[in-house]
Amino acid sequence: MEGIEKVYQFLEDAQTYYLATVEGDQPRVRPFGTALLYDGRLYIQTGKVKPVSKQLAANPKFELCAFMNGKWLRVAGELINDDSRDVKVAMLDKNPSLKSMYSADDDNTQVLYIKNAEATFSSFTDAPETIKF
Ligand SMILES: Cc1cc2nc3c(=O)[nH]c(=O)nc-3n(C[C@H](O)[C@H](O)[C@H](O)COP(=O)(O)O)c2cc1C
Repeated sequence: MEGIEKVYQFLEDAQTYYLATVEGDQPRVRPFGTALLYDGRLYIQTGKVKPVSKQLAANPKFELCAFMNGKWLRVAGELINDDSRDVKVAMLDKNPSLKSMYSADDDNTQVLYIKNAEATFSSFTDAPETIKF
């Protein structure tokens, strides 16, 4: 499995990850669940009205963390907005429950892909494994 696929699969299996952004000098963190591999990129989804979206517009740097079965993943990098309609459609098709709140053509739905990622898998027993994509 390619590195980015391994990261995607871990996020899928863990179901929930915690996404941290910065607002000035204040860290912000919240639970997230969306993840999609599309055209070789790893995307997440949010709403442009949310504070998280505004924080990323001002400063795209983020870190996320997920934990499952004694293993944890941290991914640091930048989250880049992508207004392509086809990715939004694919994201909503993968997460049909979002369709009650979002559509590919509203002004709110936002998908962002991870750029300059450094992903590290850790556990208490094994040496950390770092993947860049
Ligand atoms: C398990 C879980 C998964 C979530 N996944 C997402 C997600 O993928 N995208 C999203 O925008 N909000 C998601 N949320 C909701 C956000 O955590 C919530 O809107 C949060 O307030 C956004 O952060 P902000 O208030 O700093 O903008 C999820 C909430 C939970 C409990």
